[in-house]
Amino acid sequence: MWRLRSKVVAFGGTRSQLVGLRATAAMMAVCVAAVAHAQSGAKLIPVPPPPMGWSSWNSFSNTVDAQIIEDQARAMNSTGMAKAGYQYVNIDEGWWLGERDADGHFVIDAKAWPALAGGETAGDMANIARFIHGLGLKAGIYTDAGKDGCSMYPDLGPVHEHVGSEGHYEQDFLQFAKWGFDYVKVDWCGGDKEKLDPAVQYAEIARAIAKAEAATGHRLYFSLCEWGNNSPWTWAPNVGGAPADVWRTSGDIVAPIVPHREHSGRLASFPGVLANFDQGIHPEAEHTGFYNDPDMMVVGMPGLTDAQNRVHMSLWAISAAPLLVGADLTTLSEATRATLTNAEVLAVDQDALGLQGVKVASSGNGLEVWSKALATPGERAVLLLNRSGDAAQMTANWNDLGLEGSPATVRDLWAHKDLGSFNSSYSSTVASNDAVMVVVRGHEGKLTEYAASGGEMSKGHEISVAHVSSRAAMARVRITYTNPDSAPRYAELRANGHIAMRIAFPPTGNAPGAVWIQAPLDRAGDGNVLDFSAVGDAGPTIESIAIE
Ligand code: GLA
Repeated sequence: MWRLRSKVVAFGGTRSQLVGLRATAAMMAVCVAAVAHAQSGAKLIPVPPPPMGWSSWNSFSNTVDAQIIEDQARAMNSTGMAKAGYQYVNIDEGWWLGERDADGHFVIDAKAWPALAGGETAGDMANIARFIHGLGLKAGIYTDAGKDGCSMYPDLGPVHEHVGSEGHYEQDFLQFAKWGFDYVKVDWCGGDKEKLDPAVQYAEIARAIAKAEAATGHRLYFSLCEWGNNSPWTWAPNVGGAPADVWRTSGDIVAPIVPHREHSGRLASFPGVLANFDQGIHPEAEHTGFYNDPDMMVVGMPGLTDAQNRVHMSLWAISAAPLLVGADLTTLSEATRATLTNAEVLAVDQDALGLQGVKVASSGNGLEVWSKALATPGERAVLLLNRSGDAAQMTANWNDLGLEGSPATVRDLWAHKDLGSFNSSYSSTVASNDAVMVVVRGHEGKLTEYAASGGEMSKGHEISVAHVSSRAAMARVRITYTNPDSAPRYAELRANGHIAMRIAFPPTGNAPGAVWIQAPLDRAGDGNVLDFSAVGDAGPTIESIAIE
């Protein structure tokens, strides 16, 4: 094993360093000493945004049927939700009651899922997928990783056993793809009961999905749901080779509220929304198309005021959460509709950088400043969140946002109003349990660039970047790389010995491109170390990294 010591050289007015390249015993090719060169001109490679859509669970529980889905899909269009970017119509638990035929195929209730057009057969889930597609939308379906599913603990009776896919992974996911579904949520009630290992089961499921995709040419987006019980942010990104996925980080904000049924008096609560938001913050895992999922939104459901709905939406957007609406779309109030379709807030969630917001300042009494870096250099979405019992004056400092202390403009995303230009900070009075959401447009702080010329990473290669310093404990890192393939390549990053995180490197063609991640560089001074290793046979060619 050998290591090249990093040394500081001056380059183009910015401080650059040589990368310490460490070769492992398994390394075949000899790496050449790194030469400092700036790659800051590389184009940003947009990453898959978090999914947007609607899910049947929160407002319909296991009463879901074709009529409900048809009504919701139509409402997705008539309310303007689809135009705003919501596309998935997701069928959650209750569509299948656990019966299989002699060949193990799903047996579907033909009354609940009838033929919807000429030539169709009742009891064929392809009918509803076709209907949803006919409206220009995408269709989602649901199962469990275990033998049983959550129907063994029904919210509305009766109990149904064996509503899970264990033992049928390849068969079931192939069936979902053949039916035409575009999204699959895989729950964990059965896996939990059997004490299975979720990292193992979900990897196997991801491979079954990839096989189904290869067989049908149909893409099936993967949503994992084990409620954050087994720290999925440490293993769920790219699990089993998934090119993009989301994983739940907490339990349900509220159990379903179905009008005229048992428990119809349930209420969503603002503390519940905040608790799920907090549990969903794992910025080190959320990048390049992998997202923490703090649950379907309860915006517009009983229990929240219009102001609380706006804060809820702001929290999900600043954390780049999947935006899956739980409310009944056929009865949305105008205020809720406006909240869900605020284009400026949605743009924060869907930003092409794909990074999660981080808390950059806080006071002990519940005043928090959150900042999400956006794709345009120098832009930050900022949330001033007041969890305290009193209104408070709150300030976002440009310094804390990683912007240089020159003037920056501020725009209020809920008032749709430019607020002016400010030299070093922006202050606002924020009501108790409320938030102000703005975009700050300023000047990006200096990045320190570390250049590498280790060639293409292959199995067994490790690129170690030592003596790295950062202004932020959760540092933004730009990685400039090439991937000439037509599909992503992957690498793992271990920052300061923390658990390794998967990074997707989408195709760049032959010219270098750049993606951004966030890494915990929590050592003082230049004591931080970044270790990259390839996943699979060929990794990307990492050209340089730059750190704020
Ligand atoms: C779990 C999930 C919910 C929903 C239900 C269905 O509780 O967290 O989102 O899918 O199962 O039973």
